[in-house]
Amino acid sequence: MKKTFTPGRLMLILSCATLPLAVVAADATLDAKVQLGRVLFFDTSLSEPAGQSCATCHAPGAAFTDPDTARPTSKGVHPERFGNRNTPSAMYMAFSPKFHFDPEEKHYVGGQFWDGRSATLEDQAKEPFLNPVEMANPSKRAVVEKVRRAAYADQFDAVFGKGALVSVNRAFDHIAAAIAAFERTPEFQPFASRYDAWLAGKGQLSEQELRGLQLYEDEKKGNCAACHPSQRGPKGEPPLFTDFTYDNLGVPRNPENPFYGQDKKFNPQGAKFVDRGLGGFVKQRAEDGKFKVPTLRNIAKTAPYMHNGYFKTLRGTVAFYNDRDIRPACKGDVSEADALAQGCWPKPEISRNLNTDEMGKLGLSEQEIDDIVAFMLTLNDE
Ligand code: HEC
Ligand code: HEC
Repeated sequence: MKKTFTPGRLMLILSCATLPLAVVAADATLDAKVQLGRVLFFDTSLSEPAGQSCATCHAPGAAFTDPDTARPTSKGVHPERFGNRNTPSAMYMAFSPKFHFDPEEKHYVGGQFWDGRSATLEDQAKEPFLNPVEMANPSKRAVVEKVRRAAYADQFDAVFGKGALVSVNRAFDHIAAAIAAFERTPEFQPFASRYDAWLAGKGQLSEQELRGLQLYEDEKKGNCAACHPSQRGPKGEPPLFTDFTYDNLGVPRNPENPFYGQDKKFNPQGAKFVDRGLGGFVKQRAEDGKFKVPTLRNIAKTAPYMHNGYFKTLRGTVAFYNDRDIRPACKGDVSEADALAQGCWPKPEISRNLNTDEMGKLGLSEQEIDDIVAFMLTLNDE
């Protein structure tokens, strides 16, 4: 989808970072809220049993995604439990608009998670605490009790007012609000890649990277920017490399997804589990198989790729965009490596609502695929 996204309110907050220090420091509550969000984000005592924090799966050194790339999905605090989806980066997600249906474009936009089921960062931050395959607390009360016992508990009254941890529901809201405030800081959206420097006229890209950029943007070639925009917005906003819309790319089922072997309690369908994505959340077949367009910023650090981690390599991912509709179907479920070796692609996990307008037969040469990959490697925040 080609549509310019205006970051709006968040840019105001972010642009504070460029104001004189005195102006920023004047808002001491904001700063204290962010500090509180930071300790909560890294606190491994907030799972049940203790041992897992947000940062376990969203580590700063791995662009706030899971540093354990050995499996397509992440391990819970109970190490035999796995979720069904690949951990996305939490970076730049502060720019995702509140989940909504755009009546003009006639599609869903924004929200958090691959399927948009949390409207905002605040809503999202509450989920992992209570998810049995993640931090596994039995209730909100259990989380709040842990926070009441923490060394930083008194900070809540300072930030949210007296008695901030008294009511369980209000306390849980405050916990989520503090985490979301931390996720809105420049640490999560530094815009500090070689590509940003180049856009600002301050750095160089190699010839191959520039060729890759051109192919990436060319509507008759990669056409990647149609969903992962790469140019500044109308007010000079830096590109986010996602437009926060939803699409079904026809990603194959991932036979290596440990979720299929999970206890019936967590996956009642076993090997028959099908991830409907957005369709499952909004309960509409017309949205089945669609997942939120992820940002490509820091893509070199966030493998594996796609909602189910099917792809382990960027090259394989681009090859799939290039000739999904040209290679013959593989026999059965095969991995990315086997599909590449056999010259086939497995059938889409969900064939309805497949995007065939913007991908599937791009006609890129091997060299052009390499060039696009080289361009994507310029998107690491340094
Ligand atoms: C066990 C690993 C794990 C832990 C712990 C975890 N997350 Fe996540 N996170 C995930 C996965 C997996 C998803 C995607 C799930 C989905 O889309 O259904 C996700 C999604 C997100 C997203 C949405 C990103 C996007 O692209 O839409 C944000 C933001 C986020 N997590 C923040 C947090 C915060 C804050 C915490 C702590 C309260 C946390 N996570 C704890 C694995 C984890
Ligand atoms: C029609 C919209 C659309 C176009 C065009 C598009 N993408 Fe995507 N891209 C998506 C969606 C949606 C996903 C997630 C799909 C999923 O997980 O099932 C995605 C995922 C990816 C991922 C994996 C990201 C991650 O964090 O897992 C990469 C890499 C990627 N795209 C690169 C590209 C490149 C390179 C091009 C151009 C050759 C391109 N995309 C064109 C919509 C698009």
